[in-house]
Amino acid sequence: MSVLLKNGLVVTATGSYVADVFADGDIIKAVGSGLAMKADETVDATGKYILPGAIDPHTHIDMPFMGTTSSDDWKTGSIAAACGGTTCIVDFSLQGKGESLKDAVDRQKGKADGKTVVDYSIHPGVTDARPDVIDEVKKAIHEYGTPSFKIFLFYDFRVDDYAMIRLLEETKTHGGLVQVHAESFDMIRRLNEQFAATGKLGPMQHAKAHAILAEEEAVDRCTKAVEFTGSRIYIVHLSSSRGLWKVRQARDRGLRIQAETCPQYLTLTEDRYNEPDWNGAKYVMSPPLRPQESLDEMWLGLRDGDVQTVGTDHCPFNFKGQKDMNGKADYKVIPNGAPGIETMLMLMHTEGVVKGRITLERMVDVISTGTARMFGLSNKGAVAAGKDADLVVFDPKRKFTITQKRLHQNVDYTPWEGWEMTGMPQIVYSRGKKVAEWSGDQMKFVGAAGAGRFVKRVPLAAF
Ligand code: URP
Ligand code: ZN
Ligand code: ZN
Repeated sequence: MSVLLKNGLVVTATGSYVADVFADGDIIKAVGSGLAMKADETVDATGKYILPGAIDPHTHIDMPFMGTTSSDDWKTGSIAAACGGTTCIVDFSLQGKGESLKDAVDRQKGKADGKTVVDYSIHPGVTDARPDVIDEVKKAIHEYGTPSFKIFLFYDFRVDDYAMIRLLEETKTHGGLVQVHAESFDMIRRLNEQFAATGKLGPMQHAKAHAILAEEEAVDRCTKAVEFTGSRIYIVHLSSSRGLWKVRQARDRGLRIQAETCPQYLTLTEDRYNEPDWNGAKYVMSPPLRPQESLDEMWLGLRDGDVQTVGTDHCPFNFKGQKDMNGKADYKVIPNGAPGIETMLMLMHTEGVVKGRITLERMVDVISTGTARMFGLSNKGAVAAGKDADLVVFDPKRKFTITQKRLHQNVDYTPWEGWEMTGMPQIVYSRGKKVAEWSGDQMKFVGAAGAGRFVKRVPLAAF
């Protein structure tokens, strides 16, 4: 199967130009003007953008968590990704007690293979940093193809600072990256206790308990661990202005701190927790939504390079049946997480590019090119000869009103219900095969379950 895209605006992280793109089989073979190859399919992309498929570095698909399991499996989750223009997913697989990192990776591979419609990789999540697990880091980087390791400083399965330091040392030695959920467990624990005493336990209290100070403290602690080890770290789902200031300060001092944020921390404020009828539970996620000042600051961080990637933290739970499964009396028992795998590209374009907060090129960098570089996805993330033909023909003028009815995520709500989008994918290719296209008034999945593959990532050079 070969495809020739004609006269589109090819967008790279450093510039854009009108050109043709020819892909044969899995690979982009040529990018240039006036390409005359004969292809099985030719698409007139005049007036459209040709983007590298988005890469989502932060998803929780089919993940057991807080007494339930996230509602997308690999088929529905990856179909939703494809329909949103995301052609590669890097998902977390948390190590169970006693498990090796290999066990964790294989468990998630077992769920994904045969189901996923786009390519994927895994970040092993370290919850039990035994000496043999620390020793396994080298193998995970060089043999399993999984050079990034997630740790949590919050939740029951958090690790201590010693584990973080040991992982930073190992990843520095062997070419890996530690990713961290940075919130102070003890500050949140104490605020939870204080709120329990007042009896005020609605969704807004979740945001108050997960205070900005708790993120700031944990980010600061991470920067000190980086200074101590000379390693580098990646803060996942950074949400607050004060967390970002800590990142920025450390970077200004030459420390290698990288950060990711998510569309929800760029577009939704904490006012959502006040929605009537316990609707605020839809946004119970950790960290929580923040005041407008943090959203503004996060856009500046993305624009100026202190935040390098955007991921979705897609962790869907149905509003009816999951968010409320433990009753509505206490925010602490609401499963933490929200859906977003399908809406990243459209939101980043509409809220970021169209509103002038970031350039088109910066958008491509933070949702694809920079993400590929960050995580060792050496064949992904650019419209360039030799790369995988993960491509999005994007119509920058297409209007779409987000509604869960027209999305493919297996969940009963979207946080962006009713939002008007400008710019949508027209056709999405995964390694040269069409997986989704615009049809009528929505995206339609046209790929095949199981066509996606596990991608072995390469060890990471200093960034
Ligand atoms: O609330 C969230 N973010 N749920 C998913 C787990 C995590 O912390 O990333
Ligand atoms: Zn997290
Ligand atoms: Zn997450």
